[in-house]
Amino acid sequence: MLETQVRHPLEPLSEEEIAAAVAILREQKILPARHRFVQVTLDEPPKHIVLGYHDGDPIDRAASIVLLARPPGTGWGTVVTLPAPRAGRGRAPPAGPPPITLEEFDECERACKASPEYREALRKRGITDLDLVIVDPWSAGSYGEDEGRRLSRALSWVRLNPNDNAYAHPIENVIAVVDLDRMEVVRIEDYGVVPVPMQPGNYTPDAVGTLRTDLQPLDIHQPDGPSFTIDGHAIQWQKWHLRLGFTPREGLVLHTVAYEDQGRLRPILYRAALSEMVVPYGDPAPTHQRKNAFDAGEYNIGALANALELGCDCLGEIRYFDAVLVDSAGRPFTLRNAICLHEEDYGILWKHFDFRTGEAEVRRSRRLVISSISTVANYEYGFFWYLYQDGTIQFEVKLTGIVSTGAVPPGEKPAYGQLLNADGLYAPNHQHFFNVRLDLDIDGPVNQVYEVHTEAPPLGPENPYGNAFRSRATLLSHESEAQQLVDPLSGRYWKIVNPTVSNSLGEPVAYKLMPGENVRAFALPESSIAKRAAFMTKHLWVTPYAPDEIHAAGAYPNQHPGGAGLPTWTAADRLIADTDVVLWYTFGAHHIVRPEDWPVMPVNYIGFMLKPIGFFDCNPALDVPPPAGHDGHCHV
Ligand code: CU
Repeated sequence: MLETQVRHPLEPLSEEEIAAAVAILREQKILPARHRFVQVTLDEPPKHIVLGYHDGDPIDRAASIVLLARPPGTGWGTVVTLPAPRAGRGRAPPAGPPPITLEEFDECERACKASPEYREALRKRGITDLDLVIVDPWSAGSYGEDEGRRLSRALSWVRLNPNDNAYAHPIENVIAVVDLDRMEVVRIEDYGVVPVPMQPGNYTPDAVGTLRTDLQPLDIHQPDGPSFTIDGHAIQWQKWHLRLGFTPREGLVLHTVAYEDQGRLRPILYRAALSEMVVPYGDPAPTHQRKNAFDAGEYNIGALANALELGCDCLGEIRYFDAVLVDSAGRPFTLRNAICLHEEDYGILWKHFDFRTGEAEVRRSRRLVISSISTVANYEYGFFWYLYQDGTIQFEVKLTGIVSTGAVPPGEKPAYGQLLNADGLYAPNHQHFFNVRLDLDIDGPVNQVYEVHTEAPPLGPENPYGNAFRSRATLLSHESEAQQLVDPLSGRYWKIVNPTVSNSLGEPVAYKLMPGENVRAFALPESSIAKRAAFMTKHLWVTPYAPDEIHAAGAYPNQHPGGAGLPTWTAADRLIADTDVVLWYTFGAHHIVRPEDWPVMPVNYIGFMLKPIGFFDCNPALDVPPPAGHDGHCHV
């Protein structure tokens, strides 16, 4: 009965399916005595099943389940086949602690406040009202201490009143090492009293005072509704076809993205999602030296998604998708409006003014926006996929929220951060690295990847006048060759080619991965974080498709000593030419904090684009009609 409700193998699990999977697991009586559910998601069928699926074919459903077994606090993963309670595609328990769950945020805070040692550290700083104290369970990393325990190195802030922004008042030098499985404080590390900055840092209208009064209404109207259609999680918008997914670990997932071209539905992207991210802090001060949040693998950033609000987070004719998640007891629940889908006007798509005839042809660009926003304690991350009429796909992360803060004694300046006020409040230097796994299938799964840059031949027969330059493409045939950094001065990009399909010029069809703003990781190779987040040390990685290679830093990066994920997989130096390739692109937001980032940060944007390069024979957006109300021309 369950499977008849599902009309595509990639439809996310429903609440009923999650409840059924949990019930099956309980019936099997193989659960650890003490356990918590961390996530229950669709176990995506193998690629050949999905690609070979036709409407009405029978669909096998399976749930991938991650549990926290406590103690000893390690992860426990399995796959349950629906609807029958039979042994399905079972997997061995993975090694390593699962992510820190939202419920553990509260529990960790309570554990700290119950600790006499913690209260004493606060009392030394004049803090006695524990109700005003907030505790964030920062992940512990891996430093050869406290082996075998699932830990947090929790940091604290204090509010001046119940509605105050606590991040304005860091309790510097107090680190509560908390065993998250026993939910008890292991020890309090106190590196000395620094006065708590007392100046408020609030940003609500009542705190700001006079608001500007010269904003006129700006409304988006689509009286006939949006131009897209939705069927379950399948979306069609103009020539684009895709499916939407959402997982607690990755957040948004794009599946089977294809573009309709002269009656052919041409595949471009089989699956794309955030594979991992990390925020390494560059401050050696005791409170900050081990701050390195893997917000996907250590905190399940999808599970921290906001319920989006019309007119606030997105503007216009919006359609929302819910996400179905699970609580720690295995009860499914629906997070309303986790994903926003809408269209945006995006300025000019193309234009030419023929000055001889006095006529201009101009088309307006419109993009389809698929977005989700997650709050990880102090920070917000907006994840935005854009599809454009000219075949471009863009991924953009919007960084906002409140910077992570520390304190120095008043009158001092931090050596590795930016002072935010005269009370000694500061924000340490840090970076945000995102890695997106891109399973590209350009007109089919068998692809090649080329590094392309531009070069000028030396002065001589090839370049007699010194003005010549050309692009140079190099096939990346093995994984070791495909670990590269961006090189904006040479115009470097990476081209994904289908050698078996040609365009009208006789050249193989392709897309290119266009880096946007990027930066290198500044953590030294000897640092713990450079090993644990090896994916951030290169901007491009390419692997042959493997269904279990999903997360750039491995399945369980929490407290992992490093080496898992991309470094392990690519050590075999597998062949990546003429096969089904997966690109892993890392991009970094370099955050030397500005005073203007306080008390809440204006959005910072970072991302990349996938652009057709010879995929089409010419501009694929010629058939976009002129703006409404014009007869095909814009007369000057
Ligand atoms: Cu930042």
